[in-house]
Amino acid sequence: MSRTRKQAEDWYRHPKYYEAIFGADTARELDFLEAVNALYGTGGRTWLEPACGAGGRGAAAARRGYTLIGYDVSPEMLAHARQRLPPSLRRRVHLSLDRMESFAPRRWRGRVDLAFNLVSTFRYLDSEEAALSHLRHTRELLRPEGVYVLGFHLTDYARTTVEHERWVGRVGQEGVICNTREWPPDRRRRRSRMRNRLEIIGPRGRRRIETNWYFRTWNEREAEVLLTRAGFQLVGLYTFDAAIDEPISWDSNRLDRILILARR
Ligand SMILES: C[S@@+](CC[C@H](N)C(=O)[O-])C[C@H]1O[C@@H](n2cnc3c(N)ncnc32)[C@H](O)[C@@H]1O
Repeated sequence: MSRTRKQAEDWYRHPKYYEAIFGADTARELDFLEAVNALYGTGGRTWLEPACGAGGRGAAAARRGYTLIGYDVSPEMLAHARQRLPPSLRRRVHLSLDRMESFAPRRWRGRVDLAFNLVSTFRYLDSEEAALSHLRHTRELLRPEGVYVLGFHLTDYARTTVEHERWVGRVGQEGVICNTREWPPDRRRRRSRMRNRLEIIGPRGRRRIETNWYFRTWNEREAEVLLTRAGFQLVGLYTFDAAIDEPISWDSNRLDRILILARR
């Protein structure tokens, strides 16, 4: 009979399982970023991915000839990002251990054509100050005509149900099932409780990796105020479908938003 071991730990310490679930859509997302770069930005070839994780998009961008700057707070994710790069791409990819709240090295200031951060990672920034600091630092890195492509879910404070998403993937002989839950938002504390469970099923039994955290909440108004304070203006808006021919308006009922931000 198979055994289940339950562990409470950070799922980003296991990049291969993260990749098995979320590593798939890179080409479509890169097509979208290239279209955004041409339509709203400089069309230039220096890109930045804050919280780049396991580095799938960065490696794909480098393969398309872009210089990629990436950073992440997780040493395991960064190690995975480094190790996937063939020697021919390494000179075009600049990875470092750093935080969204503070990354703004002098050597890249005013040199980035396009920055992107697509999958609600921005919501890890757990205070107004942290979010503002991230946006201001990222703005400093952009060229005057550069853009920041920021994707995250806005919050409907009227929601009372738990939201659930489930994905499946594979790593060699192991099957991976990923379940994420977001509890109703706490408006006063500006946060939602989150839980991720990875179930790994392989020849040696079952294993569970469980991670619990809080995501900061942003409704339209809160996001607008923040962006203005950070010196950004919204120049384009899309859903997580990342379809360049299907922009949406700010009053859309879709909460999964990709914001195209330009310096004011
Ligand atoms: C959902 S993953 C996204 C990774 C990658 N951007 C992608 O789309 O696949 C979130 C990443 O954010 C990183 N992270 C969380 N908080 C961070 C912070 N304050 N500064 C830098 N990285 C952070 C985690 O280590 C993790 O790799």
